[in-house]
Amino acid sequence: MCGIVGYIGNEQAAPILMEELARLEYRGYDSAGIAVLSEEGICLTKTRGKLQALRNKLAAGMPKGYSGIGHTRWATHGAPSDVNAHPHLDQKGQVAVVHNGIIENYQALRKELQAKGCVFQSQTDTEVVPQLLAQFLQAGEALLPALLKTLDRLRGAYALGILVQEAPDCLIAARKGSPLVVGVADTGNYIASDIPAVLPYTRRVYLLDEGEIALVYGDHVEIYSEWGERVDKKIYEVTWSVDAAERGGYDHFMLKEIFEQPKAIRDTLQPRIRQGRIRLEEAGLTEEYLAGVQRVVLIACGTASHACMVGRVAIEQLARVPVEWDVASEFRYRNPILYPEDLLIVVSQSGETADTLAALRLAREKGCKVLAITNVVGSTIAREADRVLYTWAGPEIAVASTKAYLTQLLCLYLVAIEMAYVKGKLSDETYARYIQELETLPDKAQTVLTSTEPEHALAKRFCHCRDIFFIGRGLDYAAAMEASLKLKEISYIHSEAMASGELKHGTIALIEEGVPVVALSTQGQVAEKLHSNIREVKARGAVVICIAYGDSSLEDGIADHLLYIPRTDDLFAPLLSVIPAQLFAYYCAIERGYDPDKPRNLAKSVTVE
Ligand code: M6R
Repeated sequence: MCGIVGYIGNEQAAPILMEELARLEYRGYDSAGIAVLSEEGICLTKTRGKLQALRNKLAAGMPKGYSGIGHTRWATHGAPSDVNAHPHLDQKGQVAVVHNGIIENYQALRKELQAKGCVFQSQTDTEVVPQLLAQFLQAGEALLPALLKTLDRLRGAYALGILVQEAPDCLIAARKGSPLVVGVADTGNYIASDIPAVLPYTRRVYLLDEGEIALVYGDHVEIYSEWGERVDKKIYEVTWSVDAAERGGYDHFMLKEIFEQPKAIRDTLQPRIRQGRIRLEEAGLTEEYLAGVQRVVLIACGTASHACMVGRVAIEQLARVPVEWDVASEFRYRNPILYPEDLLIVVSQSGETADTLAALRLAREKGCKVLAITNVVGSTIAREADRVLYTWAGPEIAVASTKAYLTQLLCLYLVAIEMAYVKGKLSDETYARYIQELETLPDKAQTVLTSTEPEHALAKRFCHCRDIFFIGRGLDYAAAMEASLKLKEISYIHSEAMASGELKHGTIALIEEGVPVVALSTQGQVAEKLHSNIREVKARGAVVICIAYGDSSLEDGIADHLLYIPRTDDLFAPLLSVIPAQLFAYYCAIERGYDPDKPRNLAKSVTVE
């Protein structure tokens, strides 16, 4: 999730671009840059690191000019580095581009352009865009047709800001799959990936819709459809405060990130499914390699370790390969038995967690190949692992992990399904059915988010309880672990998650009149057993909240309250059942008067042991 800004008007562009970029710092980024159209041509300044590093580079003198674009990059294709930072230029330096999103066919386009003599500087997917546009312009096309032809060649998602030396009176903005706005003011016009960037200058914005293109001049804006027809658009007046706008209008980053989950699932899944096959070669997981895996070891901390619990069940059930699971802080101190042929998978949102990194290093010392599943390109864990499978969740800012968890689950499911298939443990039909079902999950996650009222109402009712228990069996137990962690870390209500069959071995002693028990009930195979456990706690006075499929056949009266999710294959249920639990935790924190984005005693990235 990169940040895009742009300005054209009567003022010097560079200071405005820097101010706009500063407004996007909250999003998280690893490099930054600006391009300004000066009398000498396009002036490019970019660097790895924070905006301060860019300011330092510009300290000798800002480039002079009245139009420009800027970018904060969250690395996806190519590590964070000066050369991979945006803007990117065509080889003659006459077209500059900033980009948010992923150009899925960039490798094919790059080869095609290289064959025509284009030389590339970076490893990014973005650089094909200025090269392609420059080719059309050099062939004599006018600006808009050249742009339409360029966009027509791109597959995937993008928000683009473009500066063209030959068209000095105009900036280009184009949107498909990634948001982009055009801010309108008396002294000039702006482009931005997010409204906060333009709020110091204007509250009047055009919100570009899918496929729309804006030609932004200093004194007016022209908007076109993806077919090049003029679009008449209404200006939207922003009424949010700057602070709220940074959170996209949501009250907290956590809530914003919960709502970003359908997109995070889609972004993580789509690039890995091609023509009905899961493709993981980017992470070195070829058919041959996966077919030969004899044992998997899953290691992580906190939320990521809960994703691994689900991964363990999925890999064992589908691929029939033994899986060992452990939390990283324990793993390395128990002199674990590891074989060089093991596939060791470490999972970490930040890619910097000290214990997970130490586990990775230990495994590599013992000769194992390590696969990292992480959200941060260029993080230490990504750099030190042998292979990396990225979760494309975008920056996760709230301390409580939400969208990263879902994308970790997805990556583990993809590994499990593909491993099972190449080992001959899944029929073609079942494989195709799983893929089809995975593809429905962004919409199903969206359905869960249609209304947050039920979770909010339950939070109001139960937020003052001393203890809340979560129970489930199989994958519901794994999801219950995450649900319980979410609740305790932000609401400070004591919570425990139990495999429901374990209740009677001790914890049931804590159940008394009015104690809330959240039962995750999605696993058909063990439904009756779970229902018995629910009856056991109800008999002792528990108030039971069930998270279940909308069409599930729960026994009458077994639940006092219900939170529904859409039906999916039981295998994928944790991806949906955790969402109501996240919302419940969020609203419990709110109702108790706590800031869910800043839970006490916790840090986003735990880089110490
Ligand atoms: O960055 P990591 O995924 O390695 O972090 C691991 C845990 O610290 C993390 O998942 C933590 O449990 C969550 N912030 C809880 O929401």
